[in-house]
Amino acid sequence: MPGYLLLKRKSNEKCICIRYRGHSRVIASIIKRKYANIYFVDFKQTSGTIINEEYFFNKIDQYKNEDIFIGVGSNSIRKKIFDKLFSYDITPANCIAENTFIAYDAVIANGVVICPGSVIGSKAIIGNNTIVNTLSSVDHDCILGDHSQVTAGVIFGGTTIVGENCFFGIKSATIPNISIGNNSIIMAGSIVYKDVPADVMIGGNPARIVKNL
Ligand SMILES: CC(C)(COP(=O)(O)OP(=O)(O)OC[C@H]1O[C@@H](n2cnc3c(N)ncnc32)[C@H](O)[C@@H]1OP(=O)(O)O)[C@@H](O)C(=O)NCCC(=O)NCCS
Repeated sequence: MPGYLLLKRKSNEKCICIRYRGHSRVIASIIKRKYANIYFVDFKQTSGTIINEEYFFNKIDQYKNEDIFIGVGSNSIRKKIFDKLFSYDITPANCIAENTFIAYDAVIANGVVICPGSVIGSKAIIGNNTIVNTLSSVDHDCILGDHSQVTAGVIFGGTTIVGENCFFGIKSATIPNISIGNNSIIMAGSIVYKDVPADVMIGGNPARIVKNL
């Protein structure tokens, strides 16, 4: 499915944003340009709740036609919500800032967040439920697996292949043509020069395994 850009706000359009902690405000700051009303669903949190999780999933049929965003930074909790929505046959919406560049032949899956100033290159693939935060660059032919998080200012050299549930700290980078295994964490500022196995935390320049997870 090709990526799409959010249009200018249309009056009275509404959407649902599931929130857990602060990341929902990042999402809201982007989607507010389109939706006049954002209804927040608090996932397992009750203070200041507009709609709580239990109520929302009990009445899910009435929300099925709304655009639903997952405003959650934690990979594991975001995955849990994605899977739950999927079990109700609901596909979360993509949240894509207007000033991103997305190549015409890139593929953006579902429930994806792409924050301002990011670049998605030719034939890159962004997996389901993955976040590409502010000013990050995903170069040509990269594949980012599902439920991963790329924080601000991350640079992927071309044809970097990233597994599922990975985390890239601020300003980390990879050289082209390497792969990163599932569940691995790349610490802030790391430069990754060679393949990374699954389930490790890696940091430094050149990045080395700091611990097994
Ligand atoms: C990956 C991360 C979460 C690890 O945190 P942690 O599990 O608490 O790890 P610690 O701080 O205990 O550090 C473990 C070791 O790695 C070292 N280390 C920590 N951060 C490092 C980094 N970015 N690069 C290299 N080494 C690092 C520590 O000095 C420590 O070494 P020591 O055991 O010799 O003292 C954290 O280092 C990080 O990079 N966070 C990124 C946060 C970020 O980008 N957030 C974006 C939000 S939008």
